[in-house]
Order: sequence, then C-alpha cells, then structure tokens
Amino acid sequence: MNKNYYITTPIYYPSAKPHMGHAYSSIIADFFARLKRIQGFNVYFLTGTDEHGQKIQRAAEKKKMDPLIFCDEISKTFRDLSDTLNLSNNDFIRTTETRHAISVENLWNILEKKGEIYLSKYSGWYSVSDEAFYSENEIEDLNGTKKSITSGSKVEWVEEESYFFRLSNWQDKLIDFYDKNPDFILPETRKNEVVSFVKSGLKDLSVSRKSFNWGIKVPSNKDHVIYVWLDALTNYLSALNYPNKSDNLYKSFWPADLHLIGKDILRFHAIYWPAFLLAADIDPPKRVFGHGWILSGDEKMSKSKGNILDPLEIIDTYGLDPLRYYLIKEVSFGNDGNISQDKLESCINSDLANNYGNLCQRVLAFCDKNANSEVPDIATFTDDDKLILDQYSNHYDNLIKYSDNQDVNLYINFIVEQLFAANKYFNDQEPWKKKNDKLRMNTIIYVALELIRKVTILLYPIIPSSSLKVLKILHIKEDKIDFETIKDNNYLKKGLKLSKLDILFKKIEQND
Ligand code: MSP
Repeated sequence: MNKNYYITTPIYYPSAKPHMGHAYSSIIADFFARLKRIQGFNVYFLTGTDEHGQKIQRAAEKKKMDPLIFCDEISKTFRDLSDTLNLSNNDFIRTTETRHAISVENLWNILEKKGEIYLSKYSGWYSVSDEAFYSENEIEDLNGTKKSITSGSKVEWVEEESYFFRLSNWQDKLIDFYDKNPDFILPETRKNEVVSFVKSGLKDLSVSRKSFNWGIKVPSNKDHVIYVWLDALTNYLSALNYPNKSDNLYKSFWPADLHLIGKDILRFHAIYWPAFLLAADIDPPKRVFGHGWILSGDEKMSKSKGNILDPLEIIDTYGLDPLRYYLIKEVSFGNDGNISQDKLESCINSDLANNYGNLCQRVLAFCDKNANSEVPDIATFTDDDKLILDQYSNHYDNLIKYSDNQDVNLYINFIVEQLFAANKYFNDQEPWKKKNDKLRMNTIIYVALELIRKVTILLYPIIPSSSLKVLKILHIKEDKIDFETIKDNNYLKKGLKLSKLDILFKKIEQND
C-alpha cells in the first residue's frame, strides 16, 4: 500500500491580509494532514501564496508599490498565519520563486510543443477579482455594472492577442476521466455541477495576457504573460521539484491525494487543471474537494463588502484550538457555515470545557487522590468496561473511511458521542463508592484513563496543542501518536506516573 499522502491548500492571493475564509481552508487541510500522519502516512502538506496576475499588480499599484515588495509584505502575513494556526505544513510556496517559474515554463513548453496551445485573439469578459474569463451568459447587468452571476464580482471587457489552450478538445476526455474516477470531485453535488458544465460544452481557454506584465513570461514570446491560473495551479507540481521527475518528492507525492479548495475555485481545479495535466501526459490529482464558505452574516467575506472576520482577533480572545474545533465541528463540511460569537462560546463551554475538559480533570484528579497519580493495577474488565472500550475498535474501520472520504462531521460526531459516553461511564460506575473494593475502583480509573487516551488521539488533528497537553500526561510524544492504538484496551502500563494537568479550556461567561 502506498503510504505517502500529498495534501494542498489553495495558494492565497496576497492582495489583502488573510481572513477567516483563508484560515478555514488551511485549518481543514491541517486537520487531514495530521490525521493521515498519525495513521502512519508520510504526509507532504503544502500551502503558499499566489502572487502574479492583474489583481495583484493593481493592488500593488494602488499602494504605489513595486509588486514584488508588495507581495513580500503580504505573503509574510500568510506565512505568519500558518504559524498562528499551528499548521503542520512541510512547505510554503510563493509563485514568485524561481523554482516555480521553472516548472510553469516547462509545462507551457510541453503544451506548446504538443500543439495544445495556439495564438489568436481574446475578446470577452474578464473579472480581475476572480482572475477568470466569463462568457456572455455567465454575467448580468446590475445597475449599469456588468458582474459575474456566480461570484458577483465586476467584469471588464478585454480584447487582446492571446494564446489559447485547446480545452474544447478535452471535453470528452474529461467526462471519461470523471466516469473512471467517480471520487475525483467531492462532494457529489459539486461533481454534478462540474460534469454538467463540461457537458454543456467547453470553449478553448485563453492562457496568456498581453496588457500587463506582472507574471511569468511565455517562453517563446515575452510580450505575453502566462494566465495566472495556469501559473498558480502549477504550484502543486513545482513544490515537488517538477520537472525533475526523478526527484524524490515528485516520485513520492505526485499525483496529489487531495487538493482542498473552496467551491468558488472548483472550475479551475476540476476542469482546467486535469485538462492541462492530461494534455501534458501528467497524471491528474486523485481528488479535489470543494468546501463551502464561511459566511459573515449571510454573505461570503470579501474586502469589497467590508465584512471580514479576522481570525487573529478571534484567536486572541478565545484561543486557537477553540476556533479550530468550532470550524471543524460546527460547519457542515462541504456546505456553507457561519461563525458567531454566541455559537463559538457555547461550543467552548459545552464541548470543550464541560465535556472534554471536565472528563480529563475529574478522572485525573480522582486518580491523583486515590491512586497516587499512577496507572493502577486492574482486575478483569466487566461487560460495561468492555462495551465502552470496544467502541473504538468497533468503529475503527469507519473512522478510517471517514478520513479517506473527508467525512469530517461523521468523524467528529463519533468523538462527541464518546465524550458523553465516557463522562456517563465515570458517573454510573461511581468509583468514589468503591473505596472498599480497591481493585474495582482501580479498574474504573484505568478504563477512564484509556478512554481519555483514545479520544485524545482522535482529537489531536482537531485541537493539536490541547491534545498534546493531555497526551504528555500519559507520556505519549507527538511523533509517537499512533491512530491504531485506539483499538488497544491495555495500552497504559501499570505504575506509569501521570503528571499534572493545567486547566484545558476556561468556561466563558455567557449573557442569556
Ligand atoms: N489564488 C487563488 C487560488 C489558487 S490555487 C492554485 C484564490 N485565492 S483566494 O485567496 O481568493 O482564496 C483562497 C481560498 O480561500 C479559496 O479556496 C477560497 O474558496 C477560500 N476562501 C476565500 N473566502 C472564503 C470564505 N469566506 N469562506 C471559505 N473559504 C473562502 O482563489
């Protein structure tokens, strides 16, 4: 079995500082990266910034800055955000790096050599904000301003010489590819959108621009810059040192296992990207998952709407793990979701403080008082003990399936159920009434400690730093976390000294 796993976030436009939507893409990707790592995969997790094109050139001009200096500044805020979000990425790519230009030029040359690219003229609508070409039926007139129907962003008329990619030739081959790889696009609803768009007919795609110069030049014609999406998508290859196909990174990690993206950029990833790759004889990625948006009120966040939620402010107030937990649990993955202070506070109080935090505190405090903070000696497990401990081995295959199918909510729902069950177990067993039957009392403590261990391993990809605090008490180091051990009911060794636990999550006073 191939134990390598390559996962990517979209690369972000450094046209303005990061917001909650960007944080969401990254946190979800980090969740999968960590989950796969503890399942024994050698994971390569990539994120970065998308720095070329007219959108960035204009943003830099507005600030009267050289575009590269402008990008240096904002790209750094994205890199800093990766640290703040505790992302476990292996690389951070910038499309202004030389390694990236080499890849893009190479891909272009292959496509040109294969006759997939030809020179002509583009006349049509273009949205600088989306960096996308739109046909007449994809735009509408709103009070005299032409806008894209799907994204709502302004479009402008463009007429210029342009190279075209023969996308129309790839229509049938793409349909065939989707048929043969039914899980290439998830969730299913997005797949249906893509397939029907492709079936409605693909036109050749303009892949170069001539009226500005901030980008990678077409190797054979320096008057043109390569279309920013062809440039940007190639980042997934350049980070693996493509075109050096004998490079270890490329050999180990291409094709990518999962491009995690927002639904607004599905067309680029699920149509253009596999078409470019198939045309260049490169394997397409295995999966593209289009998640929903984090809405601010009922709207997508954007600078122009002035409704940006700043992840840093929320992290400052509530901490990072609560935000990660909220976004992973409360947003139905694949659909839109929103974040409100009220819902976030309830989630911290009920799930993190009352359910998980309380379980850890009370069991460890009881163990401290009655078993000298050591893993105690045990009698045989009762049916009640086995029933709750075996939940993890019984659901193990499902949990793996949820991880592989990106069923985030099923995964976390299992955790929440187990947290309730563990608290209930400890209450029902009443170890405090078993002081005359020390062996039974110790067995209850042991079972509760095992449950904490198991559930904390499952929580690690969601709330890594809080989970590590708990695992540290059990002497489990980060690089030794092994998902498979959730099946083991006798992992903790008798006599192991448990250290003290600080408060994990503080309850928040909420106004009624
Ligand atoms: N640069 C392109 C991606 C190129 S990938 C080869 C881009 N950048 S972006 O900065 O505009 O958006 C990056 C990601 O953030 C996209 O997946 C987008 O869906 C996501 N989000 C931006 N706003 C969002 C929300 N409000 N909610 C959730 N994610 C959204 O597109």
